[in-house]
Amino acid sequence: MKILGISGSPKKNGNSEQMIDRVLAMAEKRGFATDSVFLSEMEVKPCIACGKCRESDECPIDDDMEKIYPKLDEADAIIVASPVYFGSPTAQLKALFDRSVLLRRHNFKLSNKIGAGIAIGGSRNGGQEKTIQVIQDWMHIHGMVVVGDGGHFGGIVKKPFEEDEVGTKTVDDTIGKVCDLLEMMKKK
Ligand SMILES: Cc1cc2nc3c(=O)[nH]c(=O)nc-3n(C[C@H](O)[C@H](O)[C@H](O)COP(=O)(O)O)c2cc1C
Repeated sequence: MKILGISGSPKKNGNSEQMIDRVLAMAEKRGFATDSVFLSEMEVKPCIACGKCRESDECPIDDDMEKIYPKLDEADAIIVASPVYFGSPTAQLKALFDRSVLLRRHNFKLSNKIGAGIAIGGSRNGGQEKTIQVIQDWMHIHGMVVVGDGGHFGGIVKKPFEEDEVGTKTVDDTIGKVCDLLEMMKKK
């Protein structure tokens, strides 16, 4: 089974990418295949509401979303990390969310995949919970099965993550829960 990690940060090797590297390494230790999307190295333009994806299963916009659609489709679980920008996920991540409508319009391709969110802010209460809620809203609208860290909403971190022991534990608990659920599904 495969877990896809997505970082919505425009910053190379920032906290969000390191969080995704960390959770995917933990998942690999538990025997899962992994894949990643780092939006710092990809171009995803915003949806222009042309409606072409209602008739065709291809988006006419020419960019890296072409590589991201199959990664989303192939994953059994998707874990999304975003920096908090003005209390919300980044514009780069929102563009990916909006462009994923193609998969929803073609038989709800993300339905029943496991989903979880991680938010990293510069402040202690900088909008991490609101950012995770937007990530989880995207997952619910695709019909995904959303999980948190076991007690709350998911990974809630203040940068630099190395100094946020409590926050980093919520990240570890979140990927732990994703792996637990996938293992339960495998046994069925
Ligand atoms: C445009 C912008 C807006 C931001 N807004 C917030 C905010 O509302 N709350 C917060 O806690 N941090 C805010 N930050 C700080 C980032 O969330 C923080 O630097 C984060 O760790 C960046 O993640 P990265 O290292 O993966 O890029 C903002 C940063 C930028 C560039």
